[in-house]
Amino acid sequence: MLARSRIEKEIASLGGWMPFARYMQLALHEPGIGYYASGARKFGAGGDFVTAPELGSLFGRTLARQLQEVPGGRILELGAGSGALAETLIQATGFEYLILETSAELRARQQERLGKKAVHIEKLPENFVGSIVANEVADALPVHMVHWTEEGILERGVGPGLAWLDRPAAGTLLEQAKGINPPPPYVSEINLLLKPWMRSLVDCLARGAIFVIDYGFPQREYYHPQRAAGTLMCHHRQRAHADPFARPGEEDITAHVDFSAAAAAAREAGAGLLGYATQAQFLVNCGITEVLAEVNAENALHYAPIAAQAQKLLSPAEMGELFKVLAAGKGVDAPLLGFSSGDRTHTL
Ligand SMILES: C[S@@+](CC[C@H](N)C(=O)[O-])C[C@H]1O[C@@H](n2cnc3c(N)ncnc32)[C@H](O)[C@@H]1O
Repeated sequence: MLARSRIEKEIASLGGWMPFARYMQLALHEPGIGYYASGARKFGAGGDFVTAPELGSLFGRTLARQLQEVPGGRILELGAGSGALAETLIQATGFEYLILETSAELRARQQERLGKKAVHIEKLPENFVGSIVANEVADALPVHMVHWTEEGILERGVGPGLAWLDRPAAGTLLEQAKGINPPPPYVSEINLLLKPWMRSLVDCLARGAIFVIDYGFPQREYYHPQRAAGTLMCHHRQRAHADPFARPGEEDITAHVDFSAAAAAAREAGAGLLGYATQAQFLVNCGITEVLAEVNAENALHYAPIAAQAQKLLSPAEMGELFKVLAAGKGVDAPLLGFSSGDRTHTL
């Protein structure tokens, strides 16, 4: 309730309209009211959604094989959630581990889990050498909503009573929306923060690789005529729905990642593209089947649950195809292990 009234007050003070990106920023990240800023149990089977690291250690142990190839012996994780991935990667690599986390509540939870094994930093470092990992972080960046109509391009914002309200689009948003131009009527998101976010990651890197792992598509598929309602999704207690005004501050709001935009931003900022693949392809290339065999040898009793993890991570009906891995970097020779086969960089 607190979040709803705070947001309604701000909408009134802005004259009855707020860009959706501002709404998403408040509902997810604002200290005191935002979903990620609050104490709700978000992750894992008892929470709102299950991410790959929350399934168990298989994802992290497989990703570790890739990160061990990158020079520097350091990992910087952005948005570390419950700290599950950090725990696995630290154990598997022995690398120095930094975390940049925007939520104070999650930072505390990560510190409790990881103790001195990870160091929390307040801002991106300078001249970082190593790997930067962001799993399901780009989808939480606030997005703008655009409504392409026969009459023109509108920005879809939030009006009084938390309801959609359109007004003519302007500025950078209008320019970008014109460049996409799907057949109207069409509603979708444009992530204006993705470019500066990618740039900031590339800028802080002296040598190494950035791995953006998330659900999403290349631009052609993202703005496909059949996806006319966009990709905005909310997650509450393992249920997905598309109404971002249902429980502000109490549930996750996400949009899929436009990987073409992310790749272009990385290139423009001076990084080389090191690969782009489905999560399934990436994990297979990294040797997920060997990791499975190791686990089997360690303890046969654990094999069944870990095989179930593999199924979730790899199956096209689950995370295998929808989730992608994009890697960009400086001073690192391609191909990286994870993209040795089935690299789809050409589709971006
Ligand atoms: C969906 S959770 C994913 C958590 C974890 N990476 C995982 O895979 O389980 C998103 C995480 O990103 C954090 N976050 C959101 N925006 C961020 C940003 N701009 N920079 C760093 N962390 C961010 C959130 O607080 C949360 O920890």
